[in-house]
Amino acid sequence: MATAIDTILTRRSASTRFLAEPVPDAAQLDLIVRAAATAPDHKRLRPYRFILIAQSRRGDLAKAFREAKLDRNPDATPDDLSRAADKALKGPMLIAIVLKIIRDHPRVSVTDQMLTAGAALENMLLAAAALGFGHCLRSGQSATSRRVREAMDIATDEELAAFLLLGTPTRPALARDDDVSDLLSIWD
Ligand SMILES: Cc1cc2nc3c(=O)[nH]c(=O)nc-3n(C[C@H](O)[C@H](O)[C@H](O)COP(=O)(O)O)c2cc1C
Repeated sequence: MATAIDTILTRRSASTRFLAEPVPDAAQLDLIVRAAATAPDHKRLRPYRFILIAQSRRGDLAKAFREAKLDRNPDATPDDLSRAADKALKGPMLIAIVLKIIRDHPRVSVTDQMLTAGAALENMLLAAAALGFGHCLRSGQSATSRRVREAMDIATDEELAAFLLLGTPTRPALARDDDVSDLLSIWD
C-alpha cells in the first residue's frame, strides 16, 4: 500500500480520455469530502462547497456550455457549439468546485480563504488518489460562465472555480521529477 508521501509525490492529473468507471461510491466520496474539510481554515469559514453533478443533469450542463459559447461568440459554428457542449459530458464523475469567499471579513483575508480552498481541493485530489482514483481539473470560459452559474444556482457572492473530474485511470499517469531547487530559500 502506498504511503502518504508516495501518494503526494506521485499525484498527477489524468487526461479526461483516460478516466473511466468505476467512480468513487458514496462512502469513498464521503472520505474525499472529509479530506477537503481537514484543510487549515482560519475561523473555520469553509470558503468552498462542492456540487456533484448527477448524470441526469449532464445534458442541462451541456446546454449551458453551448449557450455560454454562443454568448462569447455569436458566430460560433454548429461544430464549435457541439465541441463546447461535449466538454460537459466528459469525465465519469463531475464535481463543481465553488468558492465562497467573504471579501470584507474583518479578520480573515481573501488570501487566507483562497489558500484554504486550494488546500481543500488538493486534499480531495490526494484522497481520491489514495483510494485509487484519477482526477483532472477543468475551468475555462464555458465552465465558469454566467450561463452555467445560473443553471446551477450559484449565488452572486460565490464563484464557480472549476470542475473536478474523477474516475478510474485507464493508463498510469506519467512520473515526474520536478526541479524544486529554487523553491526554498533560507533567510539567515
Ligand atoms: C483550478 C484549476 C483549474 C484548471 N483548469 C484547467 C483547464 O481548464 N484546462 C487545462 O488544460 N488545465 C487546467 N488545469 C491544470 C491541470 O488540471 C493540471 O493541474 C496541469 O495540467 C498540471 O498537471 P498535473 O496536475 O499532473 O501536475 C487546472 C488546474 C487548476 C488547479
